[in-house]
Amino acid sequence: MLRQHREQTSGSPQRGSVADAWARENPRSGALSARARGLLPGGVTHDVRLAEPFPLAVARAAGSRKWDLDGHELVCYVMGHGSLLAGHSHPEVVAAVREQAERSFHPGACHELESDWAQAVIRLVPSAERVRFTSSGTEASLLALRLARAVTGRGRIVKLGGHFHGWHDQAALGADPPFDTPDTAGLPRESSVTVIPADAADLAEALRAGEVAAFILEPSGAAWATVPLPEGFLASARRLADETGTLLIYDEVVSGFRWAPGGVQEVTGILPDLTVLGKILAGGMPGGAVCGPAAVMDHLGAIRDDPRRVTHPGTHNAHPLSAAAGVATLGLAASGEAQQQAAGLAAALRAELTSVFGRCGVEGRAYGESSVFHLLFGAEPPERRDPAALKAGLPRPLSAALHCGMLLEGVHLFHGSGFLSTAHTESDLERTAAALAATLPRLAAEGLV
Ligand SMILES: Cc1ncc(COP(=O)(O)O)c(C=O)c1O
Repeated sequence: MLRQHREQTSGSPQRGSVADAWARENPRSGALSARARGLLPGGVTHDVRLAEPFPLAVARAAGSRKWDLDGHELVCYVMGHGSLLAGHSHPEVVAAVREQAERSFHPGACHELESDWAQAVIRLVPSAERVRFTSSGTEASLLALRLARAVTGRGRIVKLGGHFHGWHDQAALGADPPFDTPDTAGLPRESSVTVIPADAADLAEALRAGEVAAFILEPSGAAWATVPLPEGFLASARRLADETGTLLIYDEVVSGFRWAPGGVQEVTGILPDLTVLGKILAGGMPGGAVCGPAAVMDHLGAIRDDPRRVTHPGTHNAHPLSAAAGVATLGLAASGEAQQQAAGLAAALRAELTSVFGRCGVEGRAYGESSVFHLLFGAEPPERRDPAALKAGLPRPLSAALHCGMLLEGVHLFHGSGFLSTAHTESDLERTAAALAATLPRLAAEGLV
């Protein structure tokens, strides 16, 4: 049994397959993966990098491009998991980090950049009056839930099936399909979190008894609009939260500073009580934040014997190098031009990729919002698909072959999706369309589409 399991997961692709061709072209990534498997569980440091036949390893990156260990130049659509609105190693961000590194990595004291960073967030995010920085989006969502409980004196949290808020115990429920089971082993038996579908009637029912501290959601729809929200859902959420004294929390870790300088809340005008931030906030360095009105946020920073006090230590909160990258990046993101430029490129890419599906005679399309895209196989448009199926993404063999096929043509997708940046160019888009046009027939030849 064990042997059979090993064979199935050993990562040896079928001979002659797209994955096999990519493996042959990438011996150094393969060798590093073999070494890493003896050192790192699964050979990776983020679950999302587990890949068949083995993960890509990258040597360096600049702008919209990166170079793998075997020397191939790739158009990058991973973009630091969505952290890099201005592309890899933007000169202004690099200069800011370098300058701060010379000055101090960690002064162990208050520093000017943390206030500069908070000021930039408050200027851009409509609902922000105060900011508390963390080291990651996961920590920020954890802190937002603690704050909500402290402010309301209530215990339960409601979240939506398919929505991701990091990997802490309260968020590791209902993010992956099927949404009614824990996403991971190792959770406490008792949970204070209720998972519901994105439906206003279900939300009304969940909040009705007035026992819920917070309703948290990705206001873009799950996984950066992979599963769009029903029309009018945010307005219903705002109204129901107000009627029941529940705090409304937007997780704008991905959509913040990308959908607009002020995120989805700026685009829709429907403001949350608390916002969870990460990714672009810290310009590719580790970082997260919670922001909101002073009356809520000031539970943090209350004096020691104040019963309202919410504690939040953290060695690397507002780390000066992250603050330096964050201030520089939010400066680049402040006018809205960067978001428009990246979104314009993404719209053109979505249209071109959809037409490539048509030209290749393969049913499918690219869809998405803002500066992101998602590839979808089959005739049904996203709005007619089951949310769990949309969130599940491409079947594993197809996903692996698409990934390898696109890499062979010089394009690094993020699990069939991608983030655009201001560093992407028309020629990147042309290369991407040509890559898909070369890959789809290979997938068809393998019987995958
Ligand atoms: C919507 C959302 N929230 C929270 C997180 C967690 O952020 P981090 O990976 O920085 O902990 C992510 C990460 O991808 C995310 O996409």
